[in-house]
Amino acid sequence: MEENLKIGICLRLLLLQKRNYQNKIKNMKRQKIVAGNWKMNLNFQEGRDLASEIIRSMGPTEVLAILCPPFVHLNHLSVLANGVSNLEIGAQNCHQVASGAYTGEVSASMIKSVGANFVIIGHSERREFFNESDNLLAEKVNVVLQNDLRPIFCCGEKLDIREAGSHEALVGSQLENGLFHLDSEAFSKVVIAYEPVWAIGTGKTASPAQAQEMHQFIRSLIAKKYGSEIAEATTILYGGSCKPDNASEIFSQPDVDGGLIGGASLKAKDFVAILGSFPKQ
Ligand code: 13P
Repeated sequence: MEENLKIGICLRLLLLQKRNYQNKIKNMKRQKIVAGNWKMNLNFQEGRDLASEIIRSMGPTEVLAILCPPFVHLNHLSVLANGVSNLEIGAQNCHQVASGAYTGEVSASMIKSVGANFVIIGHSERREFFNESDNLLAEKVNVVLQNDLRPIFCCGEKLDIREAGSHEALVGSQLENGLFHLDSEAFSKVVIAYEPVWAIGTGKTASPAQAQEMHQFIRSLIAKKYGSEIAEATTILYGGSCKPDNASEIFSQPDVDGGLIGGASLKAKDFVAILGSFPKQ
């Protein structure tokens, strides 16, 4: 009898915990984000000046701005961003192992220790030039989350895949292999960036309709795997030749929640203009 009572109380506590978590997800508004991926650009002084100018010219905003500079900038930029509301710092990559004899690499815990809160994982340039596979990226996602950082997970197809009409299958497999091993709670910390490789640095943007179609598709996969509440709460960014003159049209699509910006994030004026490109609520 006493055993039954204990089991009953445990089950009730578990149920309450589940309900609290579901309510938390339900009340979450989708966060708008503009992240600047500086790639391998800007020395220390140039990076410091760019970040200071962005901070000076950023007005009050509900949009979360994230600066993702090369590693050498992380510490100083975190200090600059400290106390600035809606500004976070992120890294562009990390190693998949916690620590050890990996000369030249940087770990997730090191990134966390200097005050960054995000890490870009699986950018197409890392997939292409550093042979990063889906399996490796899944390991990186895990180590990022274990260190209380949030991954900005990139996916996207090359031109030949788009022309063959296989872009949905490719992006679906990138998500399945790189992210969908996570449980719901871990997945709810992930930001996704859809970056068609043919639009990166080429001046060729996906049309707003093409972006919307893929973002909607990605959200439908998340809904199938994690349920519609988590899918509705997931921020999905567009990346690829996003600039002040095309950002507002892209950001006005219902499933586009912001951008991951390359070239235009290296100019304070352009980056801040993109931050201000969301439709007024
Ligand atoms: P561009 O904005 O320069 O096309 O780069 C996009 C990108 O790769 C962001 O990660």
